[in-house]
Amino acid sequence: MSNKTFYITTPIYYPSGNPHIGHCYTTVACDSIARYKRMQGYDVMFLTGTDEHGQKIEEKASEKGVTPQQYVDDIVKIFKNLWSYMNISYDRYIRTTDDYHVEAVQKIFKNLYDKGYIYKGEYKGKYCTPCESFWTESQLDENGCCPECHREVKEAREEAYFLKMSPFAERIEKLLLETDFLRPKTRAQELVNNFIKPGLEDLCVSRTTFKWGIPVTFDEKHVVYVWIDALNNYITALGYENSAHSDYEKFWPADVHMVAKDIMRFHAIIWPAILMALDLPLPKHLAVHGWITFNGQKMSKSLGNVVDPFVLGERYGADSIRYHIMREMALGSDSSFSNKIMIDRINSDLANDLGNLVSRTVAMVIKYFDGTLPADRETDDLDNELISMAENLRTSVDRYVDETQLNNALAEIFKVISRANKYIDETAPWVLAKDENKKARLATVLYNLLESIRISTTLLSCFMPTTMPKVWEQIGAEENLITYGNAGKFGVLPANVTVHKGEVLFPRLDIDKETEELNAILLKNSPKSEDEDKANLAPISETIKIDDFGKVDLRVAEVKSCEKVPKAKKLLCLQLDDGFGTRQVVSGIAKWYAPEDLIGKKVIVVANLAPAKLCGVESNGMIVAADVGEDARVIFVDKDIPNGSKLR
Ligand code: MSP
Repeated sequence: MSNKTFYITTPIYYPSGNPHIGHCYTTVACDSIARYKRMQGYDVMFLTGTDEHGQKIEEKASEKGVTPQQYVDDIVKIFKNLWSYMNISYDRYIRTTDDYHVEAVQKIFKNLYDKGYIYKGEYKGKYCTPCESFWTESQLDENGCCPECHREVKEAREEAYFLKMSPFAERIEKLLLETDFLRPKTRAQELVNNFIKPGLEDLCVSRTTFKWGIPVTFDEKHVVYVWIDALNNYITALGYENSAHSDYEKFWPADVHMVAKDIMRFHAIIWPAILMALDLPLPKHLAVHGWITFNGQKMSKSLGNVVDPFVLGERYGADSIRYHIMREMALGSDSSFSNKIMIDRINSDLANDLGNLVSRTVAMVIKYFDGTLPADRETDDLDNELISMAENLRTSVDRYVDETQLNNALAEIFKVISRANKYIDETAPWVLAKDENKKARLATVLYNLLESIRISTTLLSCFMPTTMPKVWEQIGAEENLITYGNAGKFGVLPANVTVHKGEVLFPRLDIDKETEELNAILLKNSPKSEDEDKANLAPISETIKIDDFGKVDLRVAEVKSCEKVPKAKKLLCLQLDDGFGTRQVVSGIAKWYAPEDLIGKKVIVVANLAPAKLCGVESNGMIVAADVGEDARVIFVDKDIPNGSKLR
């Protein structure tokens, strides 16, 4: 094995429900990078796993009448099945209930305590008696009430352990602003402004209100806060503070942690602080991607909009799904999932461009040369562009994989595939075939096509590992020729290569019919039935008179700018153009919307609501949103309705 190592991780997933296509993105992306690095000769460690502790799991298990361990064991099986179905080549799978992890987290917690970074203090917060839950000021709803049941909360105090954060603030700020740790870098300033500039608060790292967690060894009524437990998986899985594994020296620091934007803060601030406190090196990169959304909303079970990867895989094959999600998502932005776009893409890129290129080329070698090319060659200047694009492809894919921009890596590969299709039209092999004197030219054209296919599919195999070996079989590329080294060279296939007719790689789809059928299937499989939906609806409130309604002044307003409220996890502060001027509104929707999701959109605002201060920030009005399960959805209105229009 080579001495170049590469360590890449996905987040560890909460097994609080079945995995969906949103969970697949990071895992498929990391898998593609891991495969690419292995092909480059790196000794790779690709880690994934499940984050199995916490109150939510405890509650779900008790709802089902099973122990938390039984509950997570069942769901972990589904996660592992999905990863095998999607051909995820992880090297290690960590479960935070694994004994070695539990033991290591206990030691880490104790070390931090002994070093003075963890101290015992008092957690001052708000307590909701009916829900038996503690909340911080910033977790409360817009009216300062319990975010779960929206009833009044009271001041409460509870003994808890805290991690000192301030000693690391300066180093973290430098890490974010002055290094290439965070990708995309554009998110760094937002993190610094929201969390570091206002003063990094010490983090409460233990809980006493539930039991399903890792006990603090020296104070057993406390369990370790689930994020401290979870983040440490990246080092315990390598053997840090345990003897189950012994790869820490070899693989730490990680080359890439890949996560979605909602957990960026934990990885960009809290995780570096823990590592600094432990005196350990920091990971090299944190790659942050957006969400796969459905109609502009993050896919989530409670919204009933989850897309089941098993259903899609069964219809189109795991490789097509892998390709579609990789190609759609640009690092840093959200990507909206649509059955139609997916079907279109599978048809145009995979069936038409790639599938056709392979089947046409192979068919021509069979038709004109009985399947085996003659060794005579006749080159032409027309060949140069295709050859140079194919030869240089590896360099650009290398760069994009290193920068975690997989959509761009795929775009480069498909440029060569398109160029090869165009080359067929330019060289018109069917015309050459009619002329006995053009046999050498015809063989050269077909050879160049086979080589372009070999190079592009070698690189593509890291993203689509199941289908590409079928291509190699068809183009007569022996397995030993499929290497990273050969992907940078033209002229690797033997001059008298023999091809084989094979199965259709990607059957063509009837887009309209397919979209209709798929929409119907996904609707049927949607986890919520209409009856359930009805049962969850809030009852209609008491009747009011028209005059009462008239008192509420609802206006259309445009979001001009929006930012997170420092220290208030749930709040966004929006500047609205309400037709009369600028109005500042604070809204408790940060859990569902990032500021950039709202800017430029038109919303409805309760314009005559008495001003109130939320976490110290003045709010003049309220944004209208719908409660959907546990989530809130802002009501957006058409762009052509003028700002300030009154609703009636
Ligand atoms: N358990 C924590 C992670 C701990 S890592 C030390 C967690 N788990 S999660 O299951 O809720 O989410 C895992 C990852 O999946 C997160 O990066 C999350 O953002 C991502 N996704 C969940 N739904 C997603 C989409 N719809 N789209 C893209 N990623 C999504 O957070």
